[in-house]
Amino acid sequence: MTHETPGPAVPDRELTAELSGDTFRVDQYFPTLIFSVKVPDSALLNARLVEAIYAQREHDRTGIRKSNFPELGGWHSHVRLHRDSRFGDLVRYVDAASDMMCGELGYHRSYRLRIGTMWSIINPPGSLNRAHIHPGCLWSGVYYVQAPGNSGSIEFTDPRTQNLMSSVAYIPNARRPRMCWRKVQYKPVAGRMLIFPSWLYHGVNPNRSRARGKAADRIIVSFNLSQKKRK
Ligand SMILES: [Fe+2]
Repeated sequence: MTHETPGPAVPDRELTAELSGDTFRVDQYFPTLIFSVKVPDSALLNARLVEAIYAQREHDRTGIRKSNFPELGGWHSHVRLHRDSRFGDLVRYVDAASDMMCGELGYHRSYRLRIGTMWSIINPPGSLNRAHIHPGCLWSGVYYVQAPGNSGSIEFTDPRTQNLMSSVAYIPNARRPRMCWRKVQYKPVAGRMLIFPSWLYHGVNPNRSRARGKAADRIIVSFNLSQKKRK
């Protein structure tokens, strides 16, 4: 007596069709948020900031060492620029963007996101910023003051380190679905601001601008935000 294995009652192709439409879905939870804000007509604001930042560097040539590499020419200001009136216009934009975030995120209206520290970085060609996080605050941001072509993208890394361990074969030479990215880069654009969780690892690729003189410098203002009770 022989037993023949019966074939599938329904071909796989038909099963796939049966499970498409309303029967198959993907839910996303615990997202990593990166807010992006474009300051309108930022040319004048940026020109004033460039002037203030170079003046600050003249005043404090050494600067401080954080994620920057002074030996490669990367200059980092002190971290109290939000108290300097020359940065007042930018502070107002940061406050406005923060208020929009608080609305989006459902934060308690008795609290605001307040700037705790603000600093500037000038990266001339050849300089970069190592990957780092900003301990002790909630959100961090960067505003691009001057960003010539090829002056170094900011790169964020998937914060789920367990996920970085997974070994998956993806379709070669095809764009990976966004939900499967392990890194994401933003090219710097003058007048744009990014605000991201302070715990999110990020670094800046080397400035490879071929512009001449100071026009080749990548100039940013960065800041940290914490939730504070409104007065
Ligand atoms: Fe940073």
